[in-house]
Amino acid sequence: MGAFLVEGARRLQGTVQVSGAKNSALKLMVAALLGHGAFGLDNVPRITDVYTMAGVLESLGARVNLDGHRLAIEVNSLQGHTPEHLVKSMRASVQVMGPLLARLGWVEVALPGGCAIGRRPLDIHLSGLQQMGASITLNGERLLARAPRGLRGADITFRYPSVGATENIMMAATLAKGETVIRNAAREPEIADIQAFLNAMGARIEGAGTPVIRIRGVGELGSADFAVMPDRIEAGTYLLAFLITGGEGSVCGVCPDHFSPLLNAVRSMGGEIAAEGDEVYIAAPKKLRPCAVVTSPYPGFPTDLQPQLAAAATQAQGRSELKETVFDQRFGYLSELRKLGAVVRQRGQTVAIYGPTRLKGTRLQAGDLRAGAALVLAALAAEGRSLVQGAQHIDRGYEQMEHKLQALGAQITRVELGEGGHAQ
Ligand code: UD1
Repeated sequence: MGAFLVEGARRLQGTVQVSGAKNSALKLMVAALLGHGAFGLDNVPRITDVYTMAGVLESLGARVNLDGHRLAIEVNSLQGHTPEHLVKSMRASVQVMGPLLARLGWVEVALPGGCAIGRRPLDIHLSGLQQMGASITLNGERLLARAPRGLRGADITFRYPSVGATENIMMAATLAKGETVIRNAAREPEIADIQAFLNAMGARIEGAGTPVIRIRGVGELGSADFAVMPDRIEAGTYLLAFLITGGEGSVCGVCPDHFSPLLNAVRSMGGEIAAEGDEVYIAAPKKLRPCAVVTSPYPGFPTDLQPQLAAAATQAQGRSELKETVFDQRFGYLSELRKLGAVVRQRGQTVAIYGPTRLKGTRLQAGDLRAGAALVLAALAAEGRSLVQGAQHIDRGYEQMEHKLQALGAQITRVELGEGGHAQ
């Protein structure tokens, strides 16, 4: 079992290069299943979720090769049984439903897994596919979707702007007969990235980034070469690492427009921000002010940065308040923050954090990806030594986090824990 050993209370300084977006790369890989031929994806992050998705694609009949940050995918004939152990380890694999159903007329997937951050039903995905003519049956833990005569375009209104459902229906609709309209669609920047990729393959989609997306079905899709957009959540995580350690530095290779809610929160806490081109500079103030943030779908404050912001709020002077509206169990990390000495009170989906606290390093357990990132940030600010266990969660979405932090002056090393949790 991997863990990060952190000697905290060091100001971070320097520049960090942000990787390609996990939440785009995974979906672009899936979108390739709709096409034919040789694909090239650049700026693909080297994270375990990408390796897992590569395994899913291979099991479906595609050929995949990651060389540096370039992923080559070769798609010819495919089959529609998805491997249970891979799907269960990563929720994003449910995205293969739309593309395979559209292409093969059937697909069978195990119910997905992923981060342990609350109920994550699939009703919006499934109802969208049903409105396009699919019949769906649940067989134990497996979903079988069929559309033997092909999917047909439909006018679909989502009850909630689900990111995954927007992508799934958008992909399915590329090969459906006629036009599909998705209303109350999610507006996340990753969706615009997928639209651009699908259109480069020959699809006819417009509206990504707005609440109404229109897809006109085509007979067949080809292949494309494409570069994955930068990871706005990784960028935000490093900005908060500078902030929590009282440091200063830059994230580069980013689209600052994609994370303005975070930049606004950091400014409200007294952080100095300067964005120019694809780089954002941050300088922490001497005294951090508290923040008040409510997570919501884009362009709101991203739920994927809520735990990291909570960690930073432990260093603010006064009461910060964070309200989570996207997932129903995303505060599992609070008990770990308390072990470091943080003063937090949770009432339902709202958390109050009282700072500033002199955090003291200790042994911590990451329960999911973003919680793990938050604990690393808190450990960087804490006095003394912390051990953040559960590095495998962090590796799902952060490429070489320890190396990027070391380059900023952090004392963080990866250790393997033997039986009994002792460092080896
Ligand atoms: C994606 C991101 C994740 C991010 C989330 C919200 C990927 C791989 N993951 O997850 O990092 O935190 O967007 O920005 O891109 N819901 C339903 N029924 C459905 C679908 C969703 O009730 O059919 C609910 C979920 O339970 C959750 C909320 O909607 O409470 C948001 O989910 P959704 O937007 O679908 O997130 P994901 O696509 O799973």
